[in-house]
Amino acid sequence: MSKITAAITGVGAYLPEYRLTNQILETMVDTNDEWITTRTGIKERRILKEEGKGTSHLAIKAAQDLINKKGIDPKAIELVIVATATPDMKAASTAAFTATNIGATNAFSFDLEAACSSFLFGMSVAASYIESGKYKNVLLIGADKNSSFINYKDRATCIIFGDGAGAVLFEPNEEGLGLQDELLRSNGEGREFLQATYGGSSYPITADTFNEGKHYVFQEGKTVFKNAVFNMADVTERILERNNLTNNDISWLAAHQANKRIIEATANRVSLEPEKVMMNIHKYGNTTSATLPLLLHDYESQLKKGDKIIFAAFGGGFTWGSIYLKWAYNS
Ligand code: UT7
Repeated sequence: MSKITAAITGVGAYLPEYRLTNQILETMVDTNDEWITTRTGIKERRILKEEGKGTSHLAIKAAQDLINKKGIDPKAIELVIVATATPDMKAASTAAFTATNIGATNAFSFDLEAACSSFLFGMSVAASYIESGKYKNVLLIGADKNSSFINYKDRATCIIFGDGAGAVLFEPNEEGLGLQDELLRSNGEGREFLQATYGGSSYPITADTFNEGKHYVFQEGKTVFKNAVFNMADVTERILERNNLTNNDISWLAAHQANKRIIEATANRVSLEPEKVMMNIHKYGNTTSATLPLLLHDYESQLKKGDKIIFAAFGGGFTWGSIYLKWAYNS
């Protein structure tokens, strides 16, 4: 019997309607469209404005998009993983709420948190459940409502992040398509450079820290940038090498959309032509766990069965990695 591989067999997405453009940001903080565009590649990001709606709202909509497109019965879904750095609440699983609300009433579910690498690590977890032979329908959702912990007076972070969600279904494949190899890493020494310090278990929010805005996300951009460039390029190069792939073999690079310059540096390291580099950062900014599935969603019509896709991500923690996957269908 041939080995079971885990293939992506469907994609869904959701983006909130409100567009926070560079022009609007110019009226909020000391910045300008030219600086943001040249330093990051971002032109606008989407923001979930509806009160009382959190990451699960985005996740549910993305999952419903996938379910409707594929015409699947949500009761057939056995596992729902919500990859996110911004869960709805503490103590209550965002994935459980999401699964129930999409009608996946036979599934178990859990959240997976690895900052901007959450979806990438989720791909590894989802694929492992399929490869084990125990599960046949695993729904992986990457969703983040970053606007919930962004300080819109801090120009170092508010220009970068946006809200959004993407979902993929993993199913067994017997043609050898799907996830081929992975190289996943982390280094806790990076924590100090990107974090929302207050509001977790180390430092619960107090009235004073709240008034000082210490619950917002903080980033030392330059250090994160350098580490992202080095590490994302490194794992991408290594995964190509150990699978005997050259730039000519690769159909697409799907890299975490944090900064256009980081993505280009990764592509340059493996001499990949710009046409093969998926890019949508200009439209959505950095949506943390949603960047990779949103790329798949935007490029789905161009993907062909057998296409060799290299995924790469880098995020807080630090966490990073690369995955090599063969696309399983023509749309
Ligand atoms: O997804 C998780 C991982 N996150 C990332 O990968 C993000 C990595 N970091 C970055 O993408 C970049 O570091 C940023 C986009 C955050 C910043 O770009 P940078 O090229 O590293 O800029 P910088 O922080 O070194 O700032 C350069 C200059 C400074 O002015 P001076 O000191 O040279 O006069 C800043 O004060 O740009 C100034 N600046 C801004 N100017 C206009 C910083 N932010 C802004 C802004 N608008 N928003």
